[in-house]
Amino acid sequence: MHLADSEKVASLPETQQVAAKRPQLHFTPQKNWINDPNGLFFDGTQYHLYFQHNPYGVGHGYMSWGHAVSTDLVNWTELPIAILHGDVADIFSGSIVVDHGNASGLGDGKVPPVIALYTAAAKDDTNQSQAIAYSLDGGSTFTKYERNPVLDRGSKNFRDPKVFRYESAQGSYWVMVAVEAIERRVLFYRSENLIDWTELSSFGPQAATGGIWECPDLFQLPISGTEELKWVLIVSLNPGGVAGGSGTQYFVGEFDGTTFTPDQNHDAWDSFAYDSLSQGDWLDWGRDFYAGVSFHGMSVHRQILIAWMSNWDYARELPHDGWRGSMSAARQLDLVAAMDGKFEIRQHFLGLPATGTMPPQTVSGEDRIELGSPTLLELTVAGNSSEQSVLSLHRSDDSLISEIRIDSALLQHHRTAGKVEHDLYASTQRMPLPSGLDELRVRVLLDHGSIEILAADGRCSLTDQLAGEAAPAYGTLRLAEGKNATFSVLPLAVKTLEVNA
Ligand code: FRU
Repeated sequence: MHLADSEKVASLPETQQVAAKRPQLHFTPQKNWINDPNGLFFDGTQYHLYFQHNPYGVGHGYMSWGHAVSTDLVNWTELPIAILHGDVADIFSGSIVVDHGNASGLGDGKVPPVIALYTAAAKDDTNQSQAIAYSLDGGSTFTKYERNPVLDRGSKNFRDPKVFRYESAQGSYWVMVAVEAIERRVLFYRSENLIDWTELSSFGPQAATGGIWECPDLFQLPISGTEELKWVLIVSLNPGGVAGGSGTQYFVGEFDGTTFTPDQNHDAWDSFAYDSLSQGDWLDWGRDFYAGVSFHGMSVHRQILIAWMSNWDYARELPHDGWRGSMSAARQLDLVAAMDGKFEIRQHFLGLPATGTMPPQTVSGEDRIELGSPTLLELTVAGNSSEQSVLSLHRSDDSLISEIRIDSALLQHHRTAGKVEHDLYASTQRMPLPSGLDELRVRVLLDHGSIEILAADGRCSLTDQLAGEAAPAYGTLRLAEGKNATFSVLPLAVKTLEVNA
């Protein structure tokens, strides 16, 4: 018998109905705690998502790598834990590469080894060093390398190795970026075999340094409409993010195989000494987009990034339902030239499963929009007024979940406390918009528990959890006088509900 999803939900016992409010377009673990995405790689058929995971509870601890796979970046199947914490060290964040040439010698001559490079974080906090584990079954099960660690600086805060293949006319080799977190420095290393590493250079402190630096990534992106590529260095920091707490900044520049040189050099500033809205390049302006990294195994013309959709300010204290934490939607990235000669990252949602579009409607004044769940809302607002347009999102009992306010210079997202008691949760996030736009196009992805806003065709991104909320039942769009807008609502197909007994 085939039941519609809504019928399946209605027929479940009450405790399981709560579980059915899980995000449907975002990865969540079946149970327990998750934070950063780790080891993202594409094997030609499947996308692999590993993640910081506590196998035993909803708090951060016993860090191990969980594992899930997907063919569309939306529907994920969770697999058994890939790398389990040890007695003396936890398995902190890191990356995966496929060693096609078996330069590591860890292959069996039949399949290329899949190599995870992670931080072995001593449980007594005395050391963080880089270690490897290898898989001979395509990334399902891993063996820790017997001569770990492979890179030890005797540091307590050296972590989050992201490895990629550097290819140039002068040769090709593996490059690792990792952080000395407290020093606000990204370190670059080189290796021929993924085991022996030589230091190349370092970058930072620069720009936002109001918190420790974590989870760096370095990759090339195409400049839209050209054949050109530029290098981008991603640096997560916590606290000191633009919206408070955890945040992600980026630097556009060049990497010559040894040194990363940003197009603009910045002084280092901390979060109290600068106007965060006019300085810094932020990958996202919301509260919940952290530790984002790209997939290994993709072409530079298809760089895809996923972030942890939470913030260390309150992640440990959010309400939970047996699982705590989720990933952001996958975003494809490229670069666009901004008016001031700088390059900006642009983001696009990927793989959203549409079930049909309501024809675009033109509104002026005030209108009610039925949403349903989950939904992609597309809004095009004429950009000719400094007065605000307001989109408010409501529960079915009419109470307010959150509100987006848009004027020609700024998009703000205000979220109410809802079910969350934490002091730092209810908040208003601000995101400057590019000037001189004739019209502003905004895409709003609503799922259970989150809102992701891509404005100005993806040049501006704002991601906030709506913790514990079912996706809004309806929205109200109120436009400034003289303005008009079109909107369309795209209901998105939900995956088959997976409910654990
Ligand atoms: C970032 C982070 C990483 C670390 C991991 C531990 O959120 O603090 O620096 O490797 O989480 O879970």
